Amino acid sequence: MKQEVSHLFFDSFGVPAKSMAFAPGRIEFIGNHTDYNGGLVMGAAVTEGVFVAVAPRADRKISLFSRSAGLVETSLDSLEPLEGEAFWANYPLGVTKVLLENGLSLSHGFNLAVDSNLPIGAGLSSSAAFELSTAYVLAELCGFEADKKTFAQFCRRAENEFVGMPCGILDQGVSAFGQADSLVCIDCADELFGTKAMPTGTHFWIFNSNKKHALVESAYSDRHKECHDALAILQKGYPEAETLSQISQSQLDATADELGDLLYRRACHIVGENDRVRLVEAALDEGDLAAVGAALSVSHMSSRDNFANSTPELDFLAEALNELDSVYGARLTGGGFGGAVMAFTSDAFASADADLVAKAYQKEFGLEATVLHTRAGNGGCLL
Ligand code: GLA
Repeated sequence: MKQEVSHLFFDSFGVPAKSMAFAPGRIEFIGNHTDYNGGLVMGAAVTEGVFVAVAPRADRKISLFSRSAGLVETSLDSLEPLEGEAFWANYPLGVTKVLLENGLSLSHGFNLAVDSNLPIGAGLSSSAAFELSTAYVLAELCGFEADKKTFAQFCRRAENEFVGMPCGILDQGVSAFGQADSLVCIDCADELFGTKAMPTGTHFWIFNSNKKHALVESAYSDRHKECHDALAILQKGYPEAETLSQISQSQLDATADELGDLLYRRACHIVGENDRVRLVEAALDEGDLAAVGAALSVSHMSSRDNFANSTPELDFLAEALNELDSVYGARLTGGGFGGAVMAFTSDAFASADADLVAKAYQKEFGLEATVLHTRAGNGGCLL
């Protein structure tokens, strides 16, 4: 892919690229919507991702070329979010703006080409991978230095402030801290990043439902707000709690009437997810993969019943996969409201099994599920 993005750049702009970078997509292993609630989450970078090539221009124009989405042109002097078909350009433009606000010294514009071998819209966070790879090339171009955590924070800020998605640090953090054959563990309260080896003989299979709610972004923002509202009510009784993740199940139960059914269920999901992440960490240490898998399955059910961010398509895939002996556990991965289900499997799970699940899915919904067998890969880097 390095060759391909280098050729793409040359074909688009007629000069060689000066800097190239890769950043991976990510799987959310467990810890659903916990990140912006100050909680715990485990993910893994995948081996697929986004490739970016860049070179400076003499003027102040910014030219962005995507193999799949075409050309967008703007200027360093008008770094404003774009709408409609040019929306994809907001990821690199947002990163440019945040880096400039934080000391990047860029007096000239640039040409940028982007290519990807990551399925787009599958819930594997191609947007964070695009942000991080852009940050790395711009930093190299301008001699700007920062550590991985700072780059992840800048990219999250670009997504929050420029793209307008109130996401947490999961996607950008995993894309930066990914490590081959390892899970990335994040304590989002203090933004602490660690890794944990994947048990040998385990695999990730991703089933993209190829079905999304029309308004995924606003559904995500609604959940963000509901968590915020639930916390505000809980803080009346427990003012020391700064985030939903500092609330216990018994405190939640004691506040059930004030919260009302909907906010109670949203908060239950977050409190329960944090417990499940702890359980999974301990079960991984003990090599108890059945317990890991059970927690993944319960996580999916909590998404379905409490957080209401699943879909009938994701439920079908998760249930079909969870029935198989070779699947330790399966759950929706990422924000939800469509996207993909992740299955954590043993060696015994084979393509034939994936085909059977995809066929059953096709029969039920008349849709093709795209299947990706992937593994935990390294984080973003210059090429
Ligand atoms: C999306 C967001 C993340 C996280 C997940 C849900 O991927 O970008 O920050 O909130 O959803 O866990």
